[in-house]
Amino acid sequence: MFVTRQLPVDPAEVLEGHRVEVWPDPGPPSAAVLRERAAECDALLTLLSDRVDASLLDAAPRLQVVANYAVGFDNIDLQAARTRGIWVTHTPGTLTDATADLTFTLLLAVARRLPEAEADARTGDFGHWSPTAFLGLELAGARLGILGFGAIGRAVARRARGFGMKVRYSSRSPIPPGEREGAEPADFDELLATSDVISIHAPLTESTRGLFDAAALARMKSGARLINTARGPIVDESALVAALESGQLAGAGLDVFEDEPRVHPGLVGRSDVVLTPHIGSATTEARRRMARKALRNIAAVLDGREPPDPIPGSHPQRATTP
Ligand code: DGY
Repeated sequence: MFVTRQLPVDPAEVLEGHRVEVWPDPGPPSAAVLRERAAECDALLTLLSDRVDASLLDAAPRLQVVANYAVGFDNIDLQAARTRGIWVTHTPGTLTDATADLTFTLLLAVARRLPEAEADARTGDFGHWSPTAFLGLELAGARLGILGFGAIGRAVARRARGFGMKVRYSSRSPIPPGEREGAEPADFDELLATSDVISIHAPLTESTRGLFDAAALARMKSGARLINTARGPIVDESALVAALESGQLAGAGLDVFEDEPRVHPGLVGRSDVVLTPHIGSATTEARRRMARKALRNIAAVLDGREPPDPIPGSHPQRATTP
């Protein structure tokens, strides 16, 4: 098997008796290297930055499983894997709290204008205490709109409740009252029009790609803030820059970007945005859970069993669609 990056867990801990090659560089293998390795292996452990498409799978006649080291799987052509009889697995439940924590880190930082305030203190002499400097948003009583109410959206709602926020969510699937974490359902337009902060927790699909375009950003409450720890292409970054520039939005916290690892140049110099390099799951605990889960999925398939965490619809034996 081929692992496209060094992991925080030794694969031998989970996979006994299987030959494992781990890509040694800090950066990803090139598409050509990935193709060359895939041609020889029965299992691939991929990251969200590794593109797994039909042409890669065609070059991999022995491949039985692709274990994605992520909950999201928009880097993988599921249909192509299904038609070739290849399992695709992911790591659900491993990074819920880590990502919700980072969401709240960004939310607080944006609400309290941390980059501007921090830069001021770092000058070494911030002059004087001013009643009108760095005024931000108080979370208690503010309205948080959550787009996507899966495990991470709900974990964010729990945190928001602790801060006294009024939470509403918009979700494609109905959420039973017992799982709403005190949040109220709302449709997307209501969420846009009424939220002081919107936080995105939806997967990247054809219906969410570009969902926060110029028109949607214009429908947001004036002076609202946008947080995205889900997938970059859900937000049109040029439109976001324009909305910040015009003052329609007061700030944004972004952990994910439209064209990673590139960050839109219009965002880089702005002090009303907080930017992090896709680190939602970057706690030691979460990354280890992710590694063990991905490796266990591979071990199951190579030992002739069904993997515990297949992406629904990713294998011909499973009839549902994702
Ligand atoms: C995921 O799992 O989808 C995250 O984006 C990476 O941790």
